[in-house]
Amino acid sequence: MKAVKTAHAVLATLEQGAGRPVLFVHGFPFDHTMWRHQIDLAAQTARVIAPDLRGFGRSTIEPISAKTGVAMADYADDLACILDDLGVDEPVVLCGFSMGGYIAFQFFARHRAKLRALVLCDTKAAADSPQAREVRYKMAENVEGWGSAHVARLMNSKLYAASTMAKRPQIVVDMERVIAGTDPVAIAAAQRGMAHRDDSTPLISQLDLPTLFLVGEEDEITPPQEVAALAAAAPNSQYVVIPEAGHMSPVENPAAVNTALAEFLNSLR
Ligand code: MLT
Repeated sequence: MKAVKTAHAVLATLEQGAGRPVLFVHGFPFDHTMWRHQIDLAAQTARVIAPDLRGFGRSTIEPISAKTGVAMADYADDLACILDDLGVDEPVVLCGFSMGGYIAFQFFARHRAKLRALVLCDTKAAADSPQAREVRYKMAENVEGWGSAHVARLMNSKLYAASTMAKRPQIVVDMERVIAGTDPVAIAAAQRGMAHRDDSTPLISQLDLPTLFLVGEEDEITPPQEVAALAAAAPNSQYVVIPEAGHMSPVENPAAVNTALAEFLNSLR
């Protein structure tokens, strides 16, 4: 992992492979390892860049962020800093999972020249409802007292397909370990940032670049119908449903996600 220094953090960033740059942006409250199966595939033909966002994994965060939040635009600017620091001078394929997708919309709005294509995985464009915001504020206020392991227990029932829970429980155990190890400051900061995020729906019709939408067939957080509607509204899009997967499709059915990703990357040659 390389350590990229920005004005606000030191961002641990995996760089693997050579060729066209592919940037993997993880979701909440995980780190770059949630993309591990896709990283190993893409690094065979591409230069993979996979950071831990502020406070997640091995990256640092300013303690005050637990109160102020980190905006999706700030995470997007961190990604631009990482690309500059690593000397990436070619537009990247950005793969954003869930919160990583919210960040991808901001990256598109602020750093369009750095983008070749988008992969939007188990994510949505709409802003939060008032009720969803309240749930985020409650977690942001309490996570330090609860401990991060409690966050994993709260989230579990919404993250996975029934078949993952029943037949592949080790996936759940592995992801729980990642969440339990996450700094409560990062959790609070991201929850506040997501609660305040803009509605990115108006950007969808402006996505003037190849865009692959992926979604687990049992995703409860970003349901397939919602993702299909985004794909239909985007000018140059493909839409793939991942079977036997809920929200965490990159780890629940890595083979299907990798097939879709490889076909998409090949189509960009
Ligand atoms: C994620 O996986 O990044 C989260 O579920 C996103 C969210 O909380 O909206």
